[in-house]
Amino acid sequence: MTRTHWSIDLGTTNSLIARWMGTHAETVVLEDICAREPAWNTPLIPSVVCFEDADRGFVGAQAFAAEEVLRATFAGRLTPLARSFKRVLARDSRQPVAEIGSQAISARQCATVFLREILRVTAEREQSLTSHAIPRWNILRRALAWIRREGLVNDLTMTVPIESFEAYRMELQSIARKLGVQHFRTLDEPVAAALGYGVDLTDDRNLLVVDFGGGTLDIALVRTALGGAPGARPHGVGHRKAEVMAARGLNLGGETVDEWVTEMACAKLSAHVETMRPAIRAQAEAVKKELSGKVLTTQDTYFRLPGGDELVVSRQEFLETLQARGLYDTVETVVSAVIGDARHRMSVADIDAILLVGGSTLLPGIRDLFERLFGANRVHYWKPFEAVVEGAAIYGAGYYVDQIIHHDYAIRVYSEQANCPQYEMLIKRGTAYPTPEGFETRYYSVAPKQQLFSLPVCEVGLAGRLALDWKQSRNGHYYWQPKGTEEAECVMALNEGDAIRLYPPGAGSQARLRVDFTIDSDRWLCATVHDLLRSRDIRTNDRVIRLR
Ligand SMILES: Nc1ncnc2c1ncn2[C@@H]1O[C@H](COP(=O)(O)OP(=O)(O)OP(=O)(O)O)[C@@H](O)[C@H]1O
Ligand SMILES: [Mg+2]
Repeated sequence: MTRTHWSIDLGTTNSLIARWMGTHAETVVLEDICAREPAWNTPLIPSVVCFEDADRGFVGAQAFAAEEVLRATFAGRLTPLARSFKRVLARDSRQPVAEIGSQAISARQCATVFLREILRVTAEREQSLTSHAIPRWNILRRALAWIRREGLVNDLTMTVPIESFEAYRMELQSIARKLGVQHFRTLDEPVAAALGYGVDLTDDRNLLVVDFGGGTLDIALVRTALGGAPGARPHGVGHRKAEVMAARGLNLGGETVDEWVTEMACAKLSAHVETMRPAIRAQAEAVKKELSGKVLTTQDTYFRLPGGDELVVSRQEFLETLQARGLYDTVETVVSAVIGDARHRMSVADIDAILLVGGSTLLPGIRDLFERLFGANRVHYWKPFEAVVEGAAIYGAGYYVDQIIHHDYAIRVYSEQANCPQYEMLIKRGTAYPTPEGFETRYYSVAPKQQLFSLPVCEVGLAGRLALDWKQSRNGHYYWQPKGTEEAECVMALNEGDAIRLYPPGAGSQARLRVDFTIDSDRWLCATVHDLLRSRDIRTNDRVIRLR
């Protein structure tokens, strides 16, 4: 029996599931738990769980039914209702996102319940479809179909944001294993979008992928090419390679716009602003979508205020708010930055298509902005919700994707001069892997009497979200010292405590160790540490950390 390839796009606000149909990918409609998006009629599964107990809950649209009651009962506290758990899952999966009884529910537990429920409903749907096809009298085949229902999804691709840490992939993988998925892989969201938009990829293409969702704006330049790359899984559809050339992101999404809309409405009230605010905030998203769908600036809609009054807001006011908050300027700035990052490899004229994905690309003026910048015939906007998940299903079916390292990595070293730690750039974002032999060599001295030597490798700068001020030193390497807490917080040490014992201990200020770094085909940073004093290797091609 051939395996079915499934894919899930777990989003901050909405999730989708799709499958490969043999010739194309198709988003699966799970009527019970999805909410139809009115503009495109897309079956979106709201990323929401309402827990009944720690292991069970209602998910998606079903969870919303309980929301009103909960909001009144649990004002301001954690409730049995969890939303936006993806963000917590990506940062620290043990953090609580909901509470039932007095028991805290972690983001990991929440994601497990959410995904398990999606897989269960999917299996049930499949079962009902196939059981119709099996005659009632054929009990044996019916029983077999029922057994197969269990663990139906055993080949799954999930999409991940570019800026996510390796820990996030591992987290998804471990949840998928727990749910009985045997073949699991992850794929970067922009690459998935590129595959999902069905652009004619019979030739090399440069694509600008704009993912503007609930929580973030991510813009990536992706290059796809036909290729029989080594290691590609052979499938009838032919191989396509996709490589991210440059990418930038910003914590600006639909939720930010909801806040702006709330402020805009509150500013129109003459009194009782703080009493009205929660009710206004709760309707902000719906009002935003309604105003986005309108065409004339004179059209309006309203908020229902506690007490029965209405607060009318017009599309004109909405447009002015978006403009005044700098939405369009910000998007344009990020676009230019991404194109700037890739300028040594291509120019604006080389971009074949602009792919818009994510619900916030439906905000008024966003599509116009891209059409103005790149010309209407290059902008693809008609699959804002499905391109990513369907691209992942296509990938699962055998398209080959070639990737690069998306984060900057540095080694924490001690600066004698400044008398504090600083960071020495090791791997720059955009480095392709596996790297050739002798790709990076560094020399280190060891302080007198020092017996332990370590090289703490850190991920820095949130995949370019924060522009860091690297300065070149006389030895040719780049160094950076964090200024302020925001900068200090964008450092994540990945191999703290991993030390090498030296014999004899350090003496003098001459270089004692030579370290050769490479990146293997599984994204592992490997190091060979050579003791210059004793002319021997202390470590040979040791795996240090997994890069992203
Ligand atoms: N018609 C619309 N007009 C304006 N905004 C919309 C519309 N439809 C959805 N949105 C907004 O899009 C956002 C959700 O988009 P999407 O489903 O792509 O996000 P997500 O994938 O869950 O989030 P992320 O990609 O950040 O993880 C929400 O903020 C929602 O309010
Ligand atoms: Mg998304």
